[in-house]
Amino acid sequence: MKTGILKDLEKAFNISPDEMKRVIRDFHLEMEKGLSGKKSSLKMLPAYIDRPTGGEKGSFIALDLGGTNFRVLEIRLHGNGRIMMPAVMKFALRKQDITKDAGALFGFLASSVKTFLRKTAHGACRDVNLGFTFSFPIDQKGIASGSLVTWTKGFEAAGVIGHDVVSLLKCALAKEGLAHIHVTALANDTVGTLMARSYGDRSCDVGVIIGTGTNACYPEKMSKVKKWKGAAAPESEMIINIEWGNFNKLKKTLYDRQLDASTDNPGKQILEKMVSGMYLGEVARRVIADLGRRQLIFPGQAFRKIKAAGTVRSEDVSAIEGDGSASLSATGAVLRRCGVKSSSRAERALVKNVCAIVSRRAARISAAAMAAVITKMDQKLQRKHTIAVDGSVYEKHPGFSRNIEKALKEVLGSKAGKIKLVLSKDGSGKGAAIIAAVASK
Ligand code: BGC
Repeated sequence: MKTGILKDLEKAFNISPDEMKRVIRDFHLEMEKGLSGKKSSLKMLPAYIDRPTGGEKGSFIALDLGGTNFRVLEIRLHGNGRIMMPAVMKFALRKQDITKDAGALFGFLASSVKTFLRKTAHGACRDVNLGFTFSFPIDQKGIASGSLVTWTKGFEAAGVIGHDVVSLLKCALAKEGLAHIHVTALANDTVGTLMARSYGDRSCDVGVIIGTGTNACYPEKMSKVKKWKGAAAPESEMIINIEWGNFNKLKKTLYDRQLDASTDNPGKQILEKMVSGMYLGEVARRVIADLGRRQLIFPGQAFRKIKAAGTVRSEDVSAIEGDGSASLSATGAVLRRCGVKSSSRAERALVKNVCAIVSRRAARISAAAMAAVITKMDQKLQRKHTIAVDGSVYEKHPGFSRNIEKALKEVLGSKAGKIKLVLSKDGSGKGAAIIAAVASK
């Protein structure tokens, strides 16, 4: 019986090599449309910056907003690809900070910067340049200006969509008496991650985030950015923020459809809802709750709690998959926290398999998207490529990176050997400083 259930789930969540190839083809089509300014699920947003030379120098403040915490960092660039991070502070974002309005959100950011300057005594009064990593889709008008296209990842502060986020930040900083902090660069976290790694590694040409949200960027030839209206040498390059979380040509299960319908942005961020940490736990929970509803697991138990959205987090999925104990006790503990009072070992094993099926799909979709980006730049894979990756799911989920590498081999064969994935921690903050350095040149 259990095997039958698993087989059905495996089939529903499977992304075969052929399916991956289909995804790659559709990804290329969507990328082309996005670059031409046509309607596409991939926004392909120009970042107004190319990769760094590695020689950029200076001392900067970087702000990193986009996940569960807001971070303020001091970054020193020494040239020769060397980066130091003498001070970092994390500020937890409360629900009201991210869901009220622009005044509350940017006021919180500015007061956190003030706290950082007071506590670290770095550049408290002197003029300093600041790079702002804002990890949402932004329609940039220049290196230090851009308006929010849409919120993602549960952020919904009013009065930000369509507004220049740099102006909002400058205003809030001025209100805190911090007008000597100059916001000279605005970047998406993927762009920061690419910049940070390529500062010391010329083969790095893709920046990826697989964390609370997911996305990627890469450098594109200006001749191919058909929607670009400004002046540019056709052979010059600019980094493009793909916003791949919104890619929508993917095979959906019933659980994906139900999850999507329950969000505040139905029909949007479809890939993100199958891949990123904000949703992985919820996909797994929906499968487990459905098995329970059909009395295929935990018969006779009400387990009301697990029927409520949000009870299973992506960290739980990681803990369950990493549970190597003979009795699967860590899995039992997560289930108890989710209201399942007792479970048999066979049931816990089934839950562990469900988590593996859900996260394996996430890794394979990520691999297909990565392969699409690389082959867009280098169709026959003639060069070496380093993909800089950051984000909690990639870093912490057991076996996630291995599953991506395995899938890349399945779809690209031996040529996958040309691709190297590297974890680039704190890339988004460091990268914002590099962009600020390029901008202040
Ligand atoms: C946002 C992207 C961001 C990604 C990773 C997505 O929800 O739309 O801009 O890069 O999350 O943080």
